Amino acid sequence: MVKIKKMVEELDPYVPGRSIKEIAEEYGLNPDKIIKLGSNENPLGPSPQAVEAVNEESKLMHRYPEVGLKELTSLVALYSGVSPSQVILGGDGADEILDVLGKTLIESGDEFIVPIPSYMYYEFTLKIHGGVPVYASWDLPENVLNVDSVLDAITPRTRMIFLCTPNNPTGALIDKEDIKTILENTDALVVVDEAYFEFSGVNNVDLLAGYDNLFILRTFSKILGLAGMRIGYGLGNPEFIGYMKRVKPVFSLTRLSQVAAVASINDKGYIEKSTSFSVESRDYLYEELSKISQLDVFESKANYMLVDVRKTGMTSQTLAEELLKRGVIVRDCRSFHGLDDYWIRVSVGTLEEDERFIDVLKQVIG
Ligand SMILES: Cc1ncc(COP(=O)(O)O)c(C=O)c1O
Repeated sequence: MVKIKKMVEELDPYVPGRSIKEIAEEYGLNPDKIIKLGSNENPLGPSPQAVEAVNEESKLMHRYPEVGLKELTSLVALYSGVSPSQVILGGDGADEILDVLGKTLIESGDEFIVPIPSYMYYEFTLKIHGGVPVYASWDLPENVLNVDSVLDAITPRTRMIFLCTPNNPTGALIDKEDIKTILENTDALVVVDEAYFEFSGVNNVDLLAGYDNLFILRTFSKILGLAGMRIGYGLGNPEFIGYMKRVKPVFSLTRLSQVAAVASINDKGYIEKSTSFSVESRDYLYEELSKISQLDVFESKANYMLVDVRKTGMTSQTLAEELLKRGVIVRDCRSFHGLDDYWIRVSVGTLEEDERFIDVLKQVIG
């Protein structure tokens, strides 16, 4: 065997949400009957205009994709209220942008701060670049970022601080004043992850003008309905974006993902419908889950919610497994640092999916 880098040998694998195909095969279920509430996708499906654009573009799949990405960059800039020079696009979703941030900023032994629990991919990617995670905290059950824990974690080796708002998996927003406090107390890059901002109606783009060390991370995978096409973007100061573009994989946005992204971001009707639909479904799900006395449900500003299941007497692993056997996928949160063995995260589905999930859940917990 060749010699593998020590860090790769020691790396904990990333645990993604489970797919319908995998569960259908494992449990002998009809894939059409499985409800997937594990990965915070858009339950309405993609924009029909994106599907049409992809079909059309597929005739050109023998050609390399455009690398300038001018049209999509301009549309993203317009959508976000920034100039095109402040935009970088990523072809493996926002996850690619995280990787590019690692390539741009992290030398071996540099630190990055993650308040936990939060999105686990930050840690997974940056460790590969030699980064060392330093944990800050979210206060639970209050569900607020512990700002002091972030400030206390800053050292001369801090290169990045991750602030996820709404936070995955807790669903809460971070107060803008708290973001400012953190920006003002560090030279490190503060990455404000707004993957779910559309569901909350809140964003932090206005802070870009005042803070050169702010970077906003976003994705087409959630409200824009393109998780399977893998498109993400970042907003930051033009000079920094220029450095990131030096190291970004050149052809990572395929022809199909480019046209799908253009069509989706232009489909205002779809975006509005997805937003109002998700909010309605979220309210319904929250209300129904809150009625179940064995559960503690966290209010959410995103398209998922965190549920403490310990009063069911089951661990999240057992509960998630029982749901899987009955064709419902939720996220067992054991792989999230900062949570113990009793948390699940449930994505907002269609109202019919929500109803079936609630029925199945009641059967399981009795
Ligand atoms: C908070 C957060 N950030 C970033 C991402 C990455 O999104 P993608 O790589 O699909 O664009 C996700 C995906 O679930 C997420 O939950």
